[in-house]
Amino acid sequence: MSGSGYFLTLEGGEGAGKSTAARYIADWLRAKGREVVLTREPGGSPLAEAIRQVVLSSWDEGVPAETEVLLMFAARAAHLATTIRPALARGAVVLSDRFVDASWAYQGAGRGVPAARLVELESFVLGDLRPDLTLVFDLAPEQGLARAHSRGDANRFEGEALAFQCRVRQAYLERAQAAPGRYAVIDAGQELQQVQAQLLAVLESRL
Ligand SMILES: Nc1ncnc2c1ncn2[C@@H]1O[C@H](COP(=O)(O)OP(=O)(O)OP(=O)(O)O)[C@@H](O)[C@H]1O
Ligand SMILES: [Mg+2]
Repeated sequence: MSGSGYFLTLEGGEGAGKSTAARYIADWLRAKGREVVLTREPGGSPLAEAIRQVVLSSWDEGVPAETEVLLMFAARAAHLATTIRPALARGAVVLSDRFVDASWAYQGAGRGVPAARLVELESFVLGDLRPDLTLVFDLAPEQGLARAHSRGDANRFEGEALAFQCRVRQAYLERAQAAPGRYAVIDAGQELQQVQAQLLAVLESRL
């Protein structure tokens, strides 16, 4: 457990429905009387949001994988210090739209950052803290990208090739299969109402 609060994270590829679900889950938890801190990565504190602007932008010189992963963890350290740890300490539910699993999927499987490096960074930045539960929104990348594009505001990751998006998807599924107690996989290809029904079933049984 993470202090006295509850740490719930939402993961999955581009356009899988994480942010839509985050709002729905936050409303549901608040209606039950819980304090909910709805946050996101990269970002979630003023400093981390500034890093978000940098890391999601395109740069003519390119962005080395080492730079990308260090920026993600640099932002995460600020997010943890300013937002996540204080909220958990006062008993809130922290609901984060992406967290450390995204580094395993995007910088690890996507960019090829070695697992040993991710283990080091994860331990350095998170200490012993891990999410209590991570919902993986699983969707074919073609569908997710189509949804994300119809919404506009494309970022550097949405521009990556389909093979990259497939590695990201596979990594999330493998992480969920390896630790079923810490994850629940949501079939994000269904209609919104069905996705919400899946969310309620998982939350009612696992929270
Ligand atoms: N189950 C669904 N069926 C159809 N459309 C959906 C569904 N869930 C979300 N959408 C729509 O798909 C688009 C992407 O959803 P959303 O922004 O929640 O995804 P996301 O995972 O947060 O994306 P990103 O990775 O880009 O942040 C939005 O326009 C949203 O309204
Ligand atoms: Mg989103």
